[in-house]
Amino acid sequence: MIHPVILCGGSGTRLWPLSLKTRPKPFLPLVGDNSLFEQAIDRVAGDDRFAEPIIVAGGAHIDLIKEQLGEKPHRLIVEPQAKNTAPAIALAAAMLAPDDVMLVCPSDHYIADPHSFRAAALAAGVLAAQDYLTAFGITPDRPETGYGYIRQGKALEGGFAIREFVEKPDLARARTYLASGEYSWNGGIFAFRAGAFLDTLAKHRPAMAQAVKASMDAASHDAQTLHPDAASFAAIVGESVDYAVMENSERAAMVPVDMGWSDIGSWAALQDALVEQSDGNEQRNVTTGEVDLIDCRNVLAKSDGIRVSAVGIEDVCIIVANGEVLVTTREGAQKVGKLPGAANQ
Ligand code: GDD
Ligand code: MG
Repeated sequence: MIHPVILCGGSGTRLWPLSLKTRPKPFLPLVGDNSLFEQAIDRVAGDDRFAEPIIVAGGAHIDLIKEQLGEKPHRLIVEPQAKNTAPAIALAAAMLAPDDVMLVCPSDHYIADPHSFRAAALAAGVLAAQDYLTAFGITPDRPETGYGYIRQGKALEGGFAIREFVEKPDLARARTYLASGEYSWNGGIFAFRAGAFLDTLAKHRPAMAQAVKASMDAASHDAQTLHPDAASFAAIVGESVDYAVMENSERAAMVPVDMGWSDIGSWAALQDALVEQSDGNEQRNVTTGEVDLIDCRNVLAKSDGIRVSAVGIEDVCIIVANGEVLVTTREGAQKVGKLPGAANQ
């Protein structure tokens, strides 16, 4: 049985003004009727190959999480502080038995084909049981610098060894990787044997591993919720799993997966995911709410209130939400998080 671990953190300023600190990206119904977090839970729910998901989240979003979970079975770990993904995953690993296989899933990605996701999860679980730290590899289509890159090595049962794992390369390197055809993107989804993860962390980040252990040893419980000790956790220097563990691992593997994956990292990425869903939309326009477009192409326009009207524009995103108006080119969408409205919420 595989133990899903759903990570809920990050502030998600790039989808402002819809995504706010108080209700960030994972908890919004961006594609389909359910939020990305609900979809992450539903991908593994009601399937006896997967255990009850373990949700690792900060205290600020616990009420939202409980509201969206309703009666769905789950386990919850409340992080005393956000310290990035390596400590968050380590908390979940420390809650499990060393031989349990965990499947780490971000809460803020869109996956069009849950069936392929589950098939890849099972393949990754087989490699994880053999102590491979296993990532999901996605075929890249652009030299994205916001992702990790995986260089494929020798074939293994159901996947490949990783020859090299490079977290967020610069543009020149990303271009070389794309052209070589040897690299996949790291999808941010991992399968580990809990003990193998903790051993690798202890080897490369001993202080972090010790602080997580101390925090778990002094944890308190209520109902299905675990509260690791805040004082020991506070000492941790935050770092992502990619830098702390994956780049250092000598036993990393990947499973290639084609599942219509998007991390919805910007308004342009959301538009692409929505266009993909609506076949035959030649203009590539996507609208939500009261929106009128004439002679527009490749426009994303969403309004939660006042009417939006546009004529003759191309490659633009217009978002009216929570009393704010955002207008950006698709290209500029990457910088939305730098706007004062997004940054100073
Ligand atoms: N619980 C918890 N605590 N979750 C966290 C924390 C934290 O402190 N920090 C981040 N997360 C969650 C985010 O909500 C997200 O679901 C997931 O962990 C990944 O974190 P991001 O901050 O979104 O990472 P990233 O997008 O910069 O990079 C990662 O994902 C890429 C794919 O989307 C890396 O794994 C890259 O290599 C990868 O390509
Ligand atoms: Mg991300």
